[in-house]
Amino acid sequence: MEEILENLNEFIKLNSSSQGGRRIVCVTSGGTTVPLEQRCVRYIDNFSSGNRGAASTENFVKAGYAVIFLYRRGTCQPYCRSLPDDPFLECFEFSDKTNIQGSLLKLPFSTIYEYLQMLRLIAEALKDVGPCSMFYLAAAVSDFYVPWKSMTEHKIESGSGPLDIRLAQVPKMLSVLRSNWAPKAFCISFKLETDSKILMEKATKALRKYKVHAVVANELSTRKEEVVVVSSSGNVVVRRECDKPESFVEDNLIRLIVDRHSTYIKESHN
Ligand code: PMT
Repeated sequence: MEEILENLNEFIKLNSSSQGGRRIVCVTSGGTTVPLEQRCVRYIDNFSSGNRGAASTENFVKAGYAVIFLYRRGTCQPYCRSLPDDPFLECFEFSDKTNIQGSLLKLPFSTIYEYLQMLRLIAEALKDVGPCSMFYLAAAVSDFYVPWKSMTEHKIESGSGPLDIRLAQVPKMLSVLRSNWAPKAFCISFKLETDSKILMEKATKALRKYKVHAVVANELSTRKEEVVVVSSSGNVVVRRECDKPESFVEDNLIRLIVDRHSTYIKESHN
């Protein structure tokens, strides 16, 4: 954690003092795991390939943002989305012509515990960046977990028949993020449903309840084609440009989010 914090502070210092104070976004990506044993052999996973987070990161860098990419180990990475997350890729160096390395800080997580701890660390480190900071919470975060104290230390015996586990609810950290950790940051959360009939209602409810600036609503089967940005100024449907094979829904989505962030920064200075 000390090393992470050192890198984080250096990255924020470098970027918030360059070009008259660059905007910094924390993009979360991939799913969190919930261990079932302290010496973990088995875990419950949350679905997310990390594509949304990786593609969004590329678009934020293109728009001039510095990006803290908080991602699940083994999921899609920016600039090599079609390749596996392989340490081999780390052997390549960015050419001097690109400025990507100074614009991108990658921090990995696996468990819900790591994710929540790191998110808090990042939020508190970004506090001074104020309205120029943004949280873009695309990670699929576990809703249920086994609290550490009630977790068995060793591998659960498999010989004693069916297994009953009671899962506790993970506290929603969105409210804490908004009210305590980073109250001045621009905050975008996501809503994923598999039943399109309840999606918009849930997204609208989340907007009010967590007081985020927008909720990106998506349905699992169509998530690569379209999303709906739900905010107090209404709902906007954002689609992939179907006639362009190399286009992604994130290209248009990030354009809209950056625009909204600009308005938020302007209003915060008035
Ligand atoms: O990675 P891909 O395969 O490309 O897919 C992208 C995606 C579908 C995973 C992504 O677009 C998406 O919707 N991510 C959010 C998934 C999710 O966790 O949705 P939710 O409805 O369970 O949670 C809503 C919000 O609450 C999220 O922003 C999450 O950060 C937050 N949350 C969730 C659980 C929890 N305990 N605390 C939270 O604050």
